[in-house]
Amino acid sequence: MTADSREARRLALQAELDAQKTAASRNRLGQFATPPFLAREVVREALALLPAGDAVRFLDPAFGTGSFFSALLDEAPAGRLSRSAGFEIDGHYGEPARELWRESGLDLSLGDFTRAEPREPKATLIVCNPPYVRHHHLEPADKLRLQALGERATGIRLSGLAGLYAHFMLLAQSWAAEGAVAAWLVPAEFLDVNYGAGLRRYLAEKVTLLRLHRFDAGDVQFGDALVTSAVLWWRHRPPPPGHEALFTSGGSIATPRRSETVGVERLRSASKWAGVFADGGDGDGEETAGTLGDLFTIRRGVATGDNRFFILSEAEIETRGLPLECFQPILPGPRGLGAGVTVIEADSEGRPRLAKRHYLLECRLPESEIAEKHPALWRYLQSGVPEVSGRYLCRHRTPWYAQDHRPPPPLLCTYMGRGETPFRFLLNRSRATAPNVYLLLYPKPGPAADPEMIERLWRSLNDTGTAALIAAGRVYGGGLHKLEPRELAGLPLAKMF
Ligand SMILES: C[S@@+](CC[C@H](N)C(=O)[O-])C[C@H]1O[C@@H](n2cnc3c(N)ncnc32)[C@H](O)[C@@H]1O
Repeated sequence: MTADSREARRLALQAELDAQKTAASRNRLGQFATPPFLAREVVREALALLPAGDAVRFLDPAFGTGSFFSALLDEAPAGRLSRSAGFEIDGHYGEPARELWRESGLDLSLGDFTRAEPREPKATLIVCNPPYVRHHHLEPADKLRLQALGERATGIRLSGLAGLYAHFMLLAQSWAAEGAVAAWLVPAEFLDVNYGAGLRRYLAEKVTLLRLHRFDAGDVQFGDALVTSAVLWWRHRPPPPGHEALFTSGGSIATPRRSETVGVERLRSASKWAGVFADGGDGDGEETAGTLGDLFTIRRGVATGDNRFFILSEAEIETRGLPLECFQPILPGPRGLGAGVTVIEADSEGRPRLAKRHYLLECRLPESEIAEKHPALWRYLQSGVPEVSGRYLCRHRTPWYAQDHRPPPPLLCTYMGRGETPFRFLLNRSRATAPNVYLLLYPKPGPAADPEMIERLWRSLNDTGTAALIAAGRVYGGGLHKLEPRELAGLPLAKMF
């Protein structure tokens, strides 16, 4: 089979398997495949860092369908690959992957890599896009187990806030032969966050960090991942004195936009690493990454002019015999949703699954037509003529009961709030629109048009968005926050991920 047809088969399989799973279940296990060109660049760089001619014993501890293995088969000279192994916890991907690679000499274990015992002979090349599972999705007992294992393997105990990917990296060291090269595609957050300190120390002290490449935030090449990514390559050997690592950023791995060598001593003393890059931190990243407004058009929700008149409950509509076709579901204010709700699920007809549903009158037909077609609605409108029709917003509309059209937004944000997490981002799976106590985010063509991307972004916004808004000076600590559409639009993506 040619390399192209082999990879085409793998990609078709990947697409088929992804489609059989919900985004939520893929999220739980961090199942986002590496795009093929990226897998190839990561592998090519890793091979270049291995002593030429050395036999390659390959390991991917989070195998998926094998994007790195496929790239390796293409990139490694014939005969150089002496063994290849992988782990995949989910049989949904692991079993078809085993079948796909049956004749390639791959030893793919279906199981949890973090529970496996290191095997001999150890790997000389580890390439991995570890599952991006945030710490709060790890069971507390599991977290302790991972912390203890990582500490045993490397002498470094990761913070309880570290995600699964960080534990993977530490654990993999026990699987690496002396001098082995490892390549890791990971979220770039560890460069700066406090809980990344353990990983940074590990990379500065325990292994020889060869290169660290940070992609620009919001880089569209990642398809379904909005989280800013970094790739790092290390050699399993303590860093020699005076060692310098190559820090690159932007562009691609082969043609980065910026590059700089950084002494390991500087890495040890720097409290955060973003400032170590040639662009002096996230300043340039911000510029190239753009802002939330590059991905979404942000608008305030519907200002009806009189909520009591224009927003009716399902029961009221029924009692008055009003035509449901002239109404659109609308979400209640944040309090009506209930504390902690961040997802609006829908029933089979797209109506929001809420204990009490509300509808917005959305009808632009002239009164004469309404009188003819929907007499009950006409009577209802007549009851609003004396008072409601003269209100400021209604007076400026034609007809006075017309509402600004706001299609259902896939993502929205509470517009005002107090305390430490003044804003809540909601994922809207229903066809409900929302009132003006929310900001509505409509994807622009591009990466944000992908529902999975929106879901990932929604997670990041709820995890770090508020802090980022505060950090970016868009809102201020303490008291009541009000967020304007342009302030939310100005949120730098680089600050958020
Ligand atoms: C980010 S994906 C990478 C898949 C593939 N290597 C690629 O780059 O396209 C991570 C994979 O790790 C798997 N995984 C998650 N937790 C795991 C664990 N504890 N042990 C082994 N595999 C795991 C997921 O099911 C998923 O297929």
